[in-house]
Amino acid sequence: MLTTPALRSFFSIRYDLIATEDALPYDLFVNSSSLKEKEKFVRIFPAGEQLSSEDIQSLRKKYIQLYVPEDQRHLYLKSLVQTDQYDDVNKALLLKDSALEYLGRIFDGEREFSTEILESNIEGCREVVENMVDLLGEYGIDDLKGLIGNLSFHDFYTYDHSINVSMYCISIWRLAHPKAPRSDLVNIGLGGLLHDLGKVKIPTHILNSPGGLTDEEYEEIKQHPGYGLELLLAGHVKVHPSLDINVIARIIHEHHENWNGEGYPSKKREEEIHPMARACTIADFFDAITTKRSYNQVMHIADAMNVMRKFRGVKIEPVLYDLFEKSVDFVKADVKKDLRLSDRFDPTIPWETLPLEEVKALKNADFGKIRIVGDKKDAKKS
Ligand SMILES: [Fe+2]
Ligand SMILES: [Fe+2]
Repeated sequence: MLTTPALRSFFSIRYDLIATEDALPYDLFVNSSSLKEKEKFVRIFPAGEQLSSEDIQSLRKKYIQLYVPEDQRHLYLKSLVQTDQYDDVNKALLLKDSALEYLGRIFDGEREFSTEILESNIEGCREVVENMVDLLGEYGIDDLKGLIGNLSFHDFYTYDHSINVSMYCISIWRLAHPKAPRSDLVNIGLGGLLHDLGKVKIPTHILNSPGGLTDEEYEEIKQHPGYGLELLLAGHVKVHPSLDINVIARIIHEHHENWNGEGYPSKKREEEIHPMARACTIADFFDAITTKRSYNQVMHIADAMNVMRKFRGVKIEPVLYDLFEKSVDFVKADVKKDLRLSDRFDPTIPWETLPLEEVKALKNADFGKIRIVGDKKDAKKS
């Protein structure tokens, strides 16, 4: 038995999520101490051995929990994503848990932000994204929306949203570029996962104020793409050689630029905006209006597409939007009310009530004017 050096860290794994078809690519440990402050991890199965279901049963009788070293997390993830033993929801949940762990460490308000922390957790995020690219395979937008609907959500908007945006980015990019090299999918997936990185510098009370922001607070929120760029480039963050840090930085910096040049922070327009950032804008928008969270209502898919279409060529690149729309299965006739989102809708803000407005019928002389639907107080703040 091999006892570990004191500084090595571990994460616990579920008994029902251990692949038994092949040899273990990672070491399995147990904690042999019952004292919480004196954890002593002991290796019980070395990498290279194959575990049978009987082995797992007998381990389960003896130990409450099994552990894998943090530095082997990528091997653990890969072994589970590549086996046929589990369904995609379980695999996605596992990837999501790991992404939450890394994002949590990046956004941890208690700890001093450092380039080292950012570097090591971006590396962890890259490993998660590599597995996401494998898991999503040929997933279309509808399949992905279904998968995301089966994943549990947490209270902190940024984490869940970023993970969803990352997955949508991968699918949208593959839709537009069916022969895209894997490295492009990883770059855009990571760009999506980190798109709101700059929020780490925005005070939590502003981030947690759904929709009801003062002008000054909204101005502060609008700094987050610039903050993200700064953290990544000014800090000289070193990343894995397979990544393009400049592309990821552009996704982060340009995901709120609008096709018509009226976005932020640089008012770039059309082709000036990096194509991956334009894909990220669609992913960001779509997730913000279709994914159920604890506080908001969720839009029916036909309504969501109807609302998004109104930003085609305004906030969103038209050609990419058309491709996206074609790939989504919805029936136009399901749109019961012709709604539009306020121009000031910003997917970065966790809206309690989406600022929706009803477009009046054509025959009405007031066509084009809008009426607020829902809570006037919230809508006014938009
Ligand atoms: Fe954002
Ligand atoms: Fe976002």
